[in-house]
Amino acid sequence: PLHLTFLGIESSCDDTAAAVVRGDGTILASVVAGQTALHENFGGVVPEIAARAHAEKLDLCVEEALATAGLTLAALDGIAVTAGPGLIGGVLSGVMLAKGIAAGSGLPLVGVNHLAGHALTPRLTDGVSYPYLMLLVSGGHCQFLHVAGPDRFTRLGGTIDDAPGEAFDKVAKLLGLPQPGGPAVEAAAARGDAKRFPLPRPLLDKPGCDMSFSGLKTAVLRLRDDLVARQSGLHEQDRDDICAAFQAAVADVLAEKTRRALAAMPAPVLAVAGGVAANQRLRAALQAVAEEAGASFVAPPLRLCTDNAAMIAWAGIEAFGTGQRDGMDLAARPRWPL
Ligand code: KG4
Ligand code: ZN
Repeated sequence: PLHLTFLGIESSCDDTAAAVVRGDGTILASVVAGQTALHENFGGVVPEIAARAHAEKLDLCVEEALATAGLTLAALDGIAVTAGPGLIGGVLSGVMLAKGIAAGSGLPLVGVNHLAGHALTPRLTDGVSYPYLMLLVSGGHCQFLHVAGPDRFTRLGGTIDDAPGEAFDKVAKLLGLPQPGGPAVEAAAARGDAKRFPLPRPLLDKPGCDMSFSGLKTAVLRLRDDLVARQSGLHEQDRDDICAAFQAAVADVLAEKTRRALAAMPAPVLAVAGGVAANQRLRAALQAVAEEAGASFVAPPLRLCTDNAAMIAWAGIEAFGTGQRDGMDLAARPRWPL
């Protein structure tokens, strides 16, 4: 479907986004309005605040995306919208707006699974062919997907508790580092000694590709409390060493589980997506695993690894190409496994 041009709409978490994408992989516009400042004082995303902000900003984002692309609705071939999984208030805002635009313009409507959006991104950014192995690692997700077609996903395993990004954020909080925690922990880790404190490698003793990260966070909490009690305070070097140990543990777990996923369902390409894929230490570890397995490694640019609407427009184009059309009964789904 190379000639198709789609509008994409995303509002399932804390980013309000709209994009215009062509089937040949050209991103004509990609607008992302974050909400970090709105949630900053609450230690996490507050669903009610998120829903209200989406409702306020969605049509502006759509207008801006169309203006940047230099197109009117008449020039489009369809509208793709995230229909789940996610915070229901936000998903509803997006789905309602998309239905309104579809009804008013007569354009076809395609409901997209947010995870499919992430999982299909390497095809948009790097033209990757099916099949490939995708490791999705963000603040909300952590799973291995073998991707064989736009609607052919096999889940090989994932976290049984926290997502790695969530763990990075919580560790940052425990150590008094700013949010989002990932970049702060990575910066501190670069100055630290990963060998000083031994941390567990959860679930490596169990077969399969499932992972667990909440125990690591607890181990960091205990380590911090021990140090504080012994020396009445945490020195900067302690903090950096803890960050390095934590990051190394996460990297080891993800690398070994990726090795197993590639062995279970071999693929010529290993791709990553999600905010945690920004981590250089992690990227290096995963790249090494890919090389070992004779696979190439693809990491889309960060702005397309994190939540955005270009991936939704793209997934919509792929789904449209296989015949998917949704009606005014398209439902917003808080849960929607691939
Ligand atoms: O994909 P994303 O933008 O949002 C969702 O979770 O949907 O991912 C955000 C997560 C945050 O938890 C953040 O701390 C983490 O990605 N992150 C990182 C890094 N940059 C962002 N984690 C580790 N290292 C980084 N450099
Ligand atoms: Zn996401």
